[in-house]
Amino acid sequence: MAFPATRMRRLRGSGLLRDLVRETELTAAHLVYPMFVELGTDSQTPIATMPGVERFSISRAVEEAGDAAAAGIPAILLFGVPIDKDEQGSGAYDPEGVVQLSVRAIKEAHPDLVVMTDVCLCAYTSHGHCGVVRADGRIDNDLSLELLARTAISHAEAGADAIAPSDMMDGRVGALRAQLDAEGHAGTPIVAYSAKFASAFYGPFREAAGSAPAFGDRRTYQLDPANAEEAVREAILDMEEGADIVMVKPALAYLDVIHRVKQATGMPVAAYNVSGEYAMIKAAAAAGYIDERSTVLETLTSIRRAGADIVITYHAKDAAEWLR
Ligand code: PBG
Repeated sequence: MAFPATRMRRLRGSGLLRDLVRETELTAAHLVYPMFVELGTDSQTPIATMPGVERFSISRAVEEAGDAAAAGIPAILLFGVPIDKDEQGSGAYDPEGVVQLSVRAIKEAHPDLVVMTDVCLCAYTSHGHCGVVRADGRIDNDLSLELLARTAISHAEAGADAIAPSDMMDGRVGALRAQLDAEGHAGTPIVAYSAKFASAFYGPFREAAGSAPAFGDRRTYQLDPANAEEAVREAILDMEEGADIVMVKPALAYLDVIHRVKQATGMPVAAYNVSGEYAMIKAAAAAGYIDERSTVLETLTSIRRAGADIVITYHAKDAAEWLR
């Protein structure tokens, strides 16, 4: 039945009516708060490209994690910023590395908070690539898997609740699953960055983590932004290799991919509202061009509407307060 029998505005007439028919729920329970940890003594370092985001020393990270938990955020995702880098990214799998120490301290202070760790080599390698670089300048996929698996084990041993590989090497989810199972961590879930695109939206993050590649780019391992079918294949492969959650990253320019991955896999889907997406809103809000609060809540709702169960976002603490 068309107009005038049908009038869509009837259900928009009041706030309570709109609440009754709202299709998508946004609460803090779906949010993951990414945090950068660095070595230092009771220090924190602002990140110029990401206003409001800082790199925390371990004691400060413990406090920040506590604030996030108090705001109702169930989970954090840790990124380490090491002091030393080398060809093999050995800081990534050092049992006394910055992430491993942080996980122990945060879990001790906040045992209920879900602590996820990013598993990658790029912040720890002198060349800034996510895997091992061979003499000919190419990334050695299978050799990288061994180091990534060692990294995952060291995180699990420190007490990480979930492991999130973001390197985009082929076969890493299977390799990590096998190693975790073999070493007594069969219960630790893998949150796979399955459809991670070679995106310009990571720019501010690379400044935060000091992880920009020293030569070349990441297009031999991250996905071509033009490809959605391939993204779905990646998610299916990760599911078959044992991923527990599949991720699409970035989120906003890839809402169609989030939707398709959800439809194709039926898996719990995470979407990463990345640094460049955050920086754009912060910059526009600071300039007075948009209202930050309503823009952030609309953005996060849209990512959920597209099909994401979980939204990883630097806005998490603010959003959790606004949603209270
Ligand atoms: C590391 C990694 C990156 C991000 C998460 N893990 C950067 C990259 O691939 O260059 C990006 C996160 C963001 O932009 O917020 N591989």
